[in-house]
Amino acid sequence: MDKRQIKEKIYWLGAVDWDRRLFDSLIPLPDGTTYNAYLIEGSQKTALLDTVDPAMADELMAQLDGFPKIDFIVSHHAEQDHSGAIPRVLDRFPEAKVVATPKAKGMLMDLLKISENAFITVQDGETLSLGDKTLKFIHTPWVHWPETMVTYLEEDHILFSCDFYGSHIATTDLFVTDQGRVYEAAKRYFAEIMMPFRNVITKNIEKLKEYDIQMIAPSHGQIYDRPAWIMDAYRDWVMGAPHNLVVLPFVSMHGSTRQLVDHLTSALVGHGVRVELFNLAVTDIGKLAMALVDAATVVVGTPTVLAGPHPLAAYATLLANALRPKAKFLSIIGSYGWGGKTVETLAGMIPNLKVEVLEPVLCKGVPSEIDFEALDKLASAIVEKHKEHGFE
Ligand code: FEO
Repeated sequence: MDKRQIKEKIYWLGAVDWDRRLFDSLIPLPDGTTYNAYLIEGSQKTALLDTVDPAMADELMAQLDGFPKIDFIVSHHAEQDHSGAIPRVLDRFPEAKVVATPKAKGMLMDLLKISENAFITVQDGETLSLGDKTLKFIHTPWVHWPETMVTYLEEDHILFSCDFYGSHIATTDLFVTDQGRVYEAAKRYFAEIMMPFRNVITKNIEKLKEYDIQMIAPSHGQIYDRPAWIMDAYRDWVMGAPHNLVVLPFVSMHGSTRQLVDHLTSALVGHGVRVELFNLAVTDIGKLAMALVDAATVVVGTPTVLAGPHPLAAYATLLANALRPKAKFLSIIGSYGWGGKTVETLAGMIPNLKVEVLEPVLCKGVPSEIDFEALDKLASAIVEKHKEHGFE
């Protein structure tokens, strides 16, 4: 695809990756993604903001045909889906300087072997004039690596946010056209890579308050020409209270754990608690991550297999531990045949979660009346906890 104009002298460059279905060999991308770079032609200097995944570098290089010079390559983030084509751009424009945070400089030198003398480092709040356009660099660590920054284009009130506020959607629409679809994609993206850093992101959101941001141009997905709603959504995901929601990832081998799951779900719903079930044998892990953004309680349902939790339940638990959702309560339910250490094993896998563990319910084989009563008690405990905290 050719470059596209956003505003006078400001262009979208980049690549639409319609085929990609997995990121980091981990994260499902049901709708593909884009790698957005941007080019700003000032009256005196020209800046390229980020590049693209190296696999699609040819597209970017073709879009740069016709530009006689690039003075600056701003690298917001050293991860290679944005920085990976910098060496190619430097090959063509050897006089260009790579503009990065001091931390990003070191990472880019390590990761891409870019020579030290190619860099200009910028401090938090520093500006760079392109003549009639001014780039202001705002350090925003941990969105989602330690070196990340964003650029505010002062005259045009555009925030170039890199991964921050991004979404994985392959589309030819330059600007957001379907807010509902982008909300879901952005939330999935937040859940998968931003959520673990909620506390630092809170500071970054506060830091951006003083800017009159009229457009957000991220490095994945569409451009927000009316950005208030996505900024509000981030505020809610990062700082909002958990919802009156139980997320219940489970796996069942012979149907007994499934019976427990269904009974607990009914009991909770009967008390006005929302429940989202995720059968781990078939679920999209991204959907589970999204649900974890809002959940007040997580209940893991697992049979005991080989004396411990089912590997799929262990995987989901490890993932939840890595994503650090704001859930306050956790429990475990499941069926076993002859014994094991399911509860101890799973409990040992969540050191990052600041949760109160509610009494687990484990039954031998097919659940009996006494097990259903224990589930009713667990449901009541969850209901009470949610009420106490005012989760809605
Ligand atoms: Fe889109 Fe963290 O790279």
